[in-house]
Amino acid sequence: MSETTPLTNRLAGLVNRLPARVRDTVDRYLEVIDLARELKDPKVARSLAPAGLRGLILRRGKQGTPTQFPASHNAHFDWTYPADHDDMRDLYDRAKRGQWDGATYLPWQTSVDPMNPEVPILPDGYFDFSILEDAAGVRLTAQQQLAFKHSLTAWMLSQFLHGEQGALQAACQVTEAVQFFDGKLYGGTQVVDEARHVEVYDRYLREKIGTGYPVSEHLKSLLDVILEDTRWDMKYLGMQLMVEGLALAAFGLIHRFSDEPLLKEIVHLVMRDEARHVAFGVIGLRGIYEEMSPSELRDREDFIIEGSRLMRDRFLAQEVWEKMGMPVDECVEYATNAPSIVFFRSLLFSKIVPNLKRLGLLTPYVRPHLAQLGVLQFESFDPDADQDAIDSSFVFAGRHEAAPPAAE
Ligand SMILES: [Fe+2]
Ligand SMILES: [Fe+2]
Repeated sequence: MSETTPLTNRLAGLVNRLPARVRDTVDRYLEVIDLARELKDPKVARSLAPAGLRGLILRRGKQGTPTQFPASHNAHFDWTYPADHDDMRDLYDRAKRGQWDGATYLPWQTSVDPMNPEVPILPDGYFDFSILEDAAGVRLTAQQQLAFKHSLTAWMLSQFLHGEQGALQAACQVTEAVQFFDGKLYGGTQVVDEARHVEVYDRYLREKIGTGYPVSEHLKSLLDVILEDTRWDMKYLGMQLMVEGLALAAFGLIHRFSDEPLLKEIVHLVMRDEARHVAFGVIGLRGIYEEMSPSELRDREDFIIEGSRLMRDRFLAQEVWEKMGMPVDECVEYATNAPSIVFFRSLLFSKIVPNLKRLGLLTPYVRPHLAQLGVLQFESFDPDADQDAIDSSFVFAGRHEAAPPAAE
């Protein structure tokens, strides 16, 4: 959780004297003020502020009504149909060969019981209830612990689903904006991939988990910024590298440590697609930052820093604590600091940081910020060589069965 500023502390004192219904609305404004004050760069703050207002104050995601994001990038046409990028053409060919049908390729007949402790969907070690009791004074019975895990699973998979819808929209935009014709052909396959990912996560939530959560306000704010930015490389950087990279790492952890066979198979197949999507981002951005002016580069650096902070600090499942009737502030504090959750959150950057380095974006300006977030350690991460070290230090150790599928 972000540190509360003195200004918002003083305001919070006043807010506590307001009626509960009014207080809730004002609290959301204070959260936006806090978010805006955290953002060091005024340009990034300006671009995030409207998204923050839409997401946190209006809570359109929670209202369940459709949301409109204005888009203003250029659609690039080429009437000569050139073969202009071998690596993108190669990805396109691999994507055509790698298509699968989510309706027929998966064992949907598998019986899934999210309340069965014998087949945990999330790894047991992810959540240390004894620390929660010490830190937040919350003691749950065995049945309540199962209900909590069910809710947390629904929340996490719901955020996967909402992220996939964001990826679907972003893939359409990237396909329009990309200036290589081979990139457009490849982009068409990514649109289909993302539609399939929406299909399978939505079906799993409906048929197997039985409940879902609205989009996290902070995920929605990040998607808003990416989809509205007019600069094509910001869409690549935000979606293909950062959001997709985070998703790839999260799916990898689920695949490695979950005991539920249907979900393992879903993330296995989705990861094969996502690896291509991240590769497309790296190929598309290769070399462009070396030639960029310092002021343009600073925009990208600030976006990386603020986007990383949003992704690392803001996904603390507040909605689950609320729904369970638990003390939200204390539980969020716990989720911020509990070693197993801190480690899980930092691992989500294991795909992003090496790619930032590859593109020359781990600049002297960016490095201390990522070090402060505890994720710079992944700059030389090698998934093959380093996986055993992660397993042995991870609290989930001993539960895994097989290595994640190789990236295509
Ligand atoms: Fe996806
Ligand atoms: Fe993707």
